[in-house]
This record gives sequence, structure tokens and C-alpha cells, in this order.
Amino acid sequence: MSTVLPPAGTGAATWAADPYGRALSRGRGPLFLRGEDGWLLPLDVERWCADADAADLSALRRCVGPVIDIGCGPGRLVAALAARGHRALGIDVSEAAVGRTRRTGGAALRRSVFEPLPDEGRWGTGLLVDGNIGIGGDPRALLRRVATVLAPGGLLITEAAPHDVDERVRVRLDDGREQPGTAPHFPWARVGEAALLVHARSEGWEPVGQWEADGRPFVALRRARTVRTTSQDADTANSAAVISSQFPRNLSGDIPLAGS
Ligand SMILES: C[S@@+](CC[C@H](N)C(=O)[O-])C[C@H]1O[C@@H](n2cnc3c(N)ncnc32)[C@H](O)[C@@H]1O
Repeated sequence: MSTVLPPAGTGAATWAADPYGRALSRGRGPLFLRGEDGWLLPLDVERWCADADAADLSALRRCVGPVIDIGCGPGRLVAALAARGHRALGIDVSEAAVGRTRRTGGAALRRSVFEPLPDEGRWGTGLLVDGNIGIGGDPRALLRRVATVLAPGGLLITEAAPHDVDERVRVRLDDGREQPGTAPHFPWARVGEAALLVHARSEGWEPVGQWEADGRPFVALRRARTVRTTSQDADTANSAAVISSQFPRNLSGDIPLAGS
């Protein structure tokens, strides 16, 4: 299995910094991603630390097979999946996030998505929600990496930013307590739905469902399979077809948007 190298600066020294851990232990903000140029993104720590809500469930209902939640945070999605009988694993670079996920009844591993992961190439569904398409600051590199984590024909459920944006920024976590300059900056990205579709298609992912729930735009993607046609590849193609049939193509939508 080839390993996709992480974009620079995606390691544990970023989200694993104190402000995030402190916010997760409190179960609330304030917590922001603060850009070098003053750009400020409030983080919804309260929602992340609560139970999965209706919008979350609109994504979880579509999950097929074993699920890997990439950047699981405090683990509400992993816990909800486990409670519904799914095999689910959360991965996160933050020790506080992994600890909290485990305490809520979910399985979690402290690991970057760019490091080797258990069962690479065998996950039925990957989740990149709550803005996690921004991990690493390069959505295309992340989408390439996730393609190696999921099974052939696996489903990737992503959440886009709620407005039309396509930006790469250098940010740090800020809860108002750190002295400016103390928390490390790291690359992050924000992409709206249109940009997400462009990046996804460029990496061989096709949208198989788009919907909005509680103002949150979701896009379900499936990676186009490379079908080889030479006779010596027939066995490979057949087994790919079997795997593919395990992943339903008709995804029911809540509020279908264009392309569903
Ligand atoms: C925007 S927050 C989303 C939180 C989360 N989805 C939730 O439900 O609480 C981003 C999460 O991704 C994690 N993260 C950042 N970089 C990561 C990486 N390279 N690999 C895995 N997780 C990462 C952070 O620690 C953080 O928990």
C-alpha cells in the first residue's frame, strides 16, 4: 500500500495544542481558528461535544460497511454509529479528542490521516465532516489520501462550508488565553460545495449524493474505479464488481440539491 505523504505541518503539534484540549474538557468554547491575517473562524465545540443531531444523522444513515471518521474530535459520530451497530473507528491527532471519544463509547485511535491506518483499503465509508476537508490545508492531497484508505468503490461523506469559498490559510487555535504567537500555525482549508466538487472530480471522485441539513451542505462521493479490460485482469475486475455491489448506489436524500 503506498503512503501519501502529508502536506507540511499536519502533525499532532497543531490541533493537539492546549487550547483545543482545554475546550474539549470544558465541552464548550470559545475557540477559534485564527488566521495570520486576522481571519477568524469560530469552532462549534458545544455541538461537537453534544450527541449527534438530525443533520449528523442524515449523513450517518448513508454509511455503508465499516466507517472511519477522519478527525473524529470528541466522537459524537463514532458513538452514534457504534450505538447503531456499525463498526466505526475515529482517528484524530488530539489526545483529548481520542480520550473523549473512547469515554463516549466509541473506538478511536490517536493518528494522523496521513500516517498508516488500520485496515487501509478496506473501509466502506469515510467521514470528513465539520469542516474536516480542511485537514492539511490541501483538499486534493487529502482526497488522494482518503482514496487509499477506503475500499475500492467506498463512499466518502464530506461536509462543505456553507458558502462559496475556496481558500487555503495558515491558522492557529485561539481560545483567548494564549499569548499571540505561542500556539503554532498550521495549514487549513475551507471549501464550499462548488469548490469541493471541482477538487473531488480532479482526484477521480464522483458525487453520488448532495443534500443540505440544518444549513450544512453534504456531498457523498465515490471514487471512479479504474476498470482494466485485459483478460489477465478479469479476476481483479470481477472481485471489484463484487465489492462494488456491496455499496448501494441509490443514496436517499433529505433535501436533495443539484446532482443528487
Ligand atoms: C474541525 S475539527 C472537527 C471535529 C470533529 N469532527 C467533531 O465531531 O468534533 C477538526 C478535527 O480534526 C482533527 N485533525 C486535524 N488534523 C488531523 C489529521 N492530520 N489527522 C486526523 N485528525 C486531524 C483535529 O484534532 C480535530 O479534532
